[in-house]
Amino acid sequence: MELSFQTPLEIRSQIWKGLNRAVHDKHHSWRTPVLSTLAIDGGVNSRTVVLRGVDDAASKLTVYTDARSLKVAELNANSKAVFVFWSQRLHWQLRVKVNISILTTGQQVETLWERVKQSAAAFDYISPLAPGSKLINTTESSTLIKSNDHHLAVLIASVDEIDWLELSIKGHRRARFNDTFWEWLAP
Ligand SMILES: Cc1cc2nc3c(=O)[nH]c(=O)nc-3n(C[C@H](O)[C@H](O)[C@H](O)COP(=O)(O)O)c2cc1C
Repeated sequence: MELSFQTPLEIRSQIWKGLNRAVHDKHHSWRTPVLSTLAIDGGVNSRTVVLRGVDDAASKLTVYTDARSLKVAELNANSKAVFVFWSQRLHWQLRVKVNISILTTGQQVETLWERVKQSAAAFDYISPLAPGSKLINTTESSTLIKSNDHHLAVLIASVDEIDWLELSIKGHRRARFNDTFWEWLAP
């Protein structure tokens, strides 16, 4: 069923509810947004990530990654980034402008690592090879002995602004907003 929310307040609330749900629902299309960053050479890089946490009260999104990945180097150089979400069910696109802080040490990361290391995802963060390292053959990374040190990094994205687009046969709608303003835009 396609839902139609009329007021900015209702649309904003529905967006944050949907983002929250995506963290817990593996089949929710907002669980795997595309994250775009500024490349070191001045270009742009995009990749799919998993949405791991949402704090709607603080307007923050959380993603886990390998501290040695290219995106971390890019975010260290420029913390501005954009998440793009698309929901086929709602026919809603979100383009979320964020500022990302990177946590690689400290209590929050270690507490999280205690949980992640029990899961299959642990292997993503203990490979001795940094993501993007050149391989001689494709089995090389899986045959290497894994070290005990982890490279888990937590990306905390503070939302600056959301560009919301609804596709509808009744007429598309678009708006730009954050906690303090709302502006309708031509789609
Ligand atoms: C469905 C899906 C989910 C992914 N989730 C993550 C993720 O949560 N964190 C992550 O670092 N990479 C994730 N990846 C891999 C990234 O898309 C990317 O290939 C990798 O992080 C290297 O990106 P970089 O070289 O730009 O840093 C995911 C890929 C797919 C296809």
